[in-house]
Amino acid sequence: MSEGVAEADQPIERVGGAPDLMSKFDPVIATREALLAGGVEDPFSLVMERVLSPTKAICNGRDTILLGTYNYMGMTFDPDVIAAGERALADFGSGTTGSRVLNGTYQGHRDVEDALREFYAMDHAMVFSTGYQANLGIISTLAGKGDYIVLDIDSHASIWDGCALGNAEVVPFRHNDTEAMVKRLKRIPDGAGKLVVLEGVYSMLGDVAPLREMVGAAKEEGAMVLVDEAHSMGFIGENGRGVAEDQGVLDEVDFVIGTFSKSVGTVGGFCVSNHPKFEILRLVCRPYVFTASLPPSVVATAATSIRKLMQAGDKRAALWANSKRLHAGLRELGFTLGTEEPQSAIVAVMMPDLEHGAMMWQALLHEGLYVNLARPPATPANMTLLRCSLCAEHSEEEVETILGMFERAGKAVGII
Ligand SMILES: Cc1ncc(COP(=O)(O)O)c(C=O)c1O
Repeated sequence: MSEGVAEADQPIERVGGAPDLMSKFDPVIATREALLAGGVEDPFSLVMERVLSPTKAICNGRDTILLGTYNYMGMTFDPDVIAAGERALADFGSGTTGSRVLNGTYQGHRDVEDALREFYAMDHAMVFSTGYQANLGIISTLAGKGDYIVLDIDSHASIWDGCALGNAEVVPFRHNDTEAMVKRLKRIPDGAGKLVVLEGVYSMLGDVAPLREMVGAAKEEGAMVLVDEAHSMGFIGENGRGVAEDQGVLDEVDFVIGTFSKSVGTVGGFCVSNHPKFEILRLVCRPYVFTASLPPSVVATAATSIRKLMQAGDKRAALWANSKRLHAGLRELGFTLGTEEPQSAIVAVMMPDLEHGAMMWQALLHEGLYVNLARPPATPANMTLLRCSLCAEHSEEEVETILGMFERAGKAVGII
């Protein structure tokens, strides 16, 4: 058992028979113990000892190709991005020590919001400390008690948590099913507020939402629409604005949520919108008001990265080529994938169960490849998957090397 992990079956006596509040995690502890007892490394505590580039790191003392980061556009080591961060660190210090609405708005926070307005060609942009907080804040502030949120069942945890925080009525519908969404919308009582929440790319299987039909149908039912484009920003759409842009419905979307932790290559979250009353959210959105703002170096790197992503046609093309080649190569090898065709920078490889998933994850790591092991509750329908996320900076040779690693590991573990 690894350090710091408790035994699952040690009851702890408390005064008055009060339960140990940690006992509810016993099943999770037991699953983890069983996995590690089988001799596999803990897939959820890998340490990157050094990061050499957007696609390479040293893990367990060896060179490792990174195929499980969200560094889609490879911006983390961009020289202009790094220089902007260094300048801001020197000029403005290491942190703001305050909320955006008090002492935590520096020139750099305004500048990154300007960069977002330019990137999306929208009137308003509001930056949060993470994408998680952007969903938490915007959803909970828009839809409160008595309002209805109609959302895809496979929505990200931050969307569900935003719904819970706002205390709205939550009505999920089957993944990417427009008819089911409309049916739910039609049942909402007259006069109630309605928010439909969708994602552009769903991060577990890497599949894209049919936003053209869904956004139109939601609008016909009088709902406001929020789309989380966390996994499509920078990559999908003519200007990298995401799936809504690609499918020609960005103008109909009321709120777009995004993150700096994927294509932008740093940390932070945002909402952009053309709603004329948008700016008031800065005063009423608790996860914006009651937390410290992003450090100056972070907003400076984000602004530089976002402006560079406006001119990133070549990188977008390279990323599509990588995604298509990996998808086709894995299928030829006999792996089952999350989508029939490559739809995004995520290629999900289905595993028969958690045990085989962990064995395959470890075999790939020993080959020198890092991918993400994803399992319930993060995954839909109890699936275990190895999630591969490509980077525009993976070379063609690296993609071929990756396919060789999958072939050897898959045969060793008995998956192909
Ligand atoms: C769809 C979606 N929304 C929001 C987030 C949260 O982003 P962040 O990492 O900036 O908190 C994620 C992160 O994985 C995501 O996949």
